[in-house]
Amino acid sequence: MGHHLTIHATRQCDVLIIGAGGAGLRCAVHLLEKRPDLKILAVTKVAHPQKSHTSTAQGGLAAVDPRDKTDKPIYHMFDTWKGGDCTSDQDVVKRIVEGGWEEIQWLERRGMHLSRNDEGNISKRQFGGHTIEFGKGDSFRAVFEADRTGKGIMDTAWGEALKRGTVFLNFSVATEILFQEGACAGAVLFNFKDGEFTKVLAKTTVLATGGSGQVYRITTNCRGNTGDGLAVILRAGLPIMDAEAVQFHPTGIVGPGILASEALRSEGGILRNKDLEPFMERYAPKMKDLAPRDIVARSIETEIREGRGIMNPDHQIEHVWIDLRHLSAYVHEVKLKEVASFFKTYTNLDSRTQLCPVRPSNHYHMGGIPTNADGAVQRSAEEIIPGLFAIGECACASFHGFNRLGTNSLLELLVMGKAAGECVLSYLKDGRIADPAGAGEQTLSRFSGYLAARGTENTGKIRLEMRDMMTKKVGVFRNERDMREAVAALEEYRRRSAGAAIATQGLRTNQELLERWELDNLLDVAMVIAQGAIMRQESRGAHFREDFPERSDAFQFHNIESMTEFGKVLFARRPVDMSLQTAGDAHSDHFKVIPRKY
Ligand code: FUM
Repeated sequence: MGHHLTIHATRQCDVLIIGAGGAGLRCAVHLLEKRPDLKILAVTKVAHPQKSHTSTAQGGLAAVDPRDKTDKPIYHMFDTWKGGDCTSDQDVVKRIVEGGWEEIQWLERRGMHLSRNDEGNISKRQFGGHTIEFGKGDSFRAVFEADRTGKGIMDTAWGEALKRGTVFLNFSVATEILFQEGACAGAVLFNFKDGEFTKVLAKTTVLATGGSGQVYRITTNCRGNTGDGLAVILRAGLPIMDAEAVQFHPTGIVGPGILASEALRSEGGILRNKDLEPFMERYAPKMKDLAPRDIVARSIETEIREGRGIMNPDHQIEHVWIDLRHLSAYVHEVKLKEVASFFKTYTNLDSRTQLCPVRPSNHYHMGGIPTNADGAVQRSAEEIIPGLFAIGECACASFHGFNRLGTNSLLELLVMGKAAGECVLSYLKDGRIADPAGAGEQTLSRFSGYLAARGTENTGKIRLEMRDMMTKKVGVFRNERDMREAVAALEEYRRRSAGAAIATQGLRTNQELLERWELDNLLDVAMVIAQGAIMRQESRGAHFREDFPERSDAFQFHNIESMTEFGKVLFARRPVDMSLQTAGDAHSDHFKVIPRKY
């Protein structure tokens, strides 16, 4: 149809990092601290790294302070294992928890302004599911910078990455991963600002593309979180893992779903239903409002389903209240200033004097690209893809199992960013530049197809319908009938999207063209989420099946999911690493497949 697209340029580098949020930058900085001579190219979809989703993280970063007389890494490992409903890989849990405090020091020594208490020590707050002595008491292990912890991390990591010579490519996405003889050789990028395709040949490639929250209508995620990394991996014939493990944060601000940090409840905020009852006592008698997120999200949905929610007149959506009225002026004005301002901006409510409306909002993808404990991408438990790494939310190592504890993602992205960096360093000893034949053909044919499409369908409309449908049918509560309907709806969206003509045919700043590509990514990821959720006939962590409400030992494995043709999802299994349990030491029993009560 006359759309002859070409690769505009070829570049080379030692390390190509796709995604310049917290994980990607931590990796870049580790590499450059060890090897200042390395040529690192960091690609970001947004205008500049500070706009990455990591910057929106609010409440804190979990790490056990070695000077804390009450806390121990083994307690944090236990909480993560139990919180993830016994599906985290225990080798990864040990590695990440043990690496935590070093990362706090790393950040502070590079200038992050962690909040401090009156004695001048680093302040810590409690988050859901974090305990001491294997569930006996509350743990305060989340360090924070007020309620803008992610911004503090990004200021620090971006400054370091810039200072050490990382080259940034902004407004760019990776549309194809390149391979030569089974090893990763780089990627093809599309810079949608300049409208140019670039082939980047790299000795090693690190995927750090973030989450896929835009699969859902109500989400705390940025607009650009469209599962791009997962989609390009699937198109490369590689699998993703546990895609059905999707987290819904209990307290999204009603309407847009913007995050109202768990720190609100940590500082004493209380969830109430329409009768103003503090209902969490009925669902989690011990931990109440600070039970893990999957439990609190289901409790809120149950209150709403059973008629104890409140209808919001502006959004025609039901919700519960978070009551912050009793908190001190210091908490409102200093510790949680930013979240308080969000309530004012988005609901015109003053959290000091008024109840604020919240409900569950998609927040995090525990599933992702399978890796080992070094962040090396795997085809199966036995086979890694040489030269390809994945870290941060797009990856699944798996630290979080089927339910992530609050503050464990910032910890993970830092420790794994560094760990992958270390492994990249050893890979670079033999890494070489290769130029695979046919590089870019897949991308050019896909984008030509988008531009050649004719029809009256609208990309934005399909995207919105899909997000709505996924929220209703593959959300907090799931059942087979709804999810089969979701799969059929996704097939139909895919069929319709072929008839979505792009109004502007140029490549430069063609937002509609980018959104057309994003729609394909969202549909691919949604399809694997839905089919993975149908396959897993049990309830585990955030994956709750009304038709199979109990956890089942028959599903005590990771789902390895591939999709080479839209809708045809193939499943394999990866065992859950049980090395803490099989270590046979004094704590082994805590790392069995244990009951999950809070
Ligand atoms: O609630 C929050 O502040 C979110 C923290 C997290 O997702 O780790």
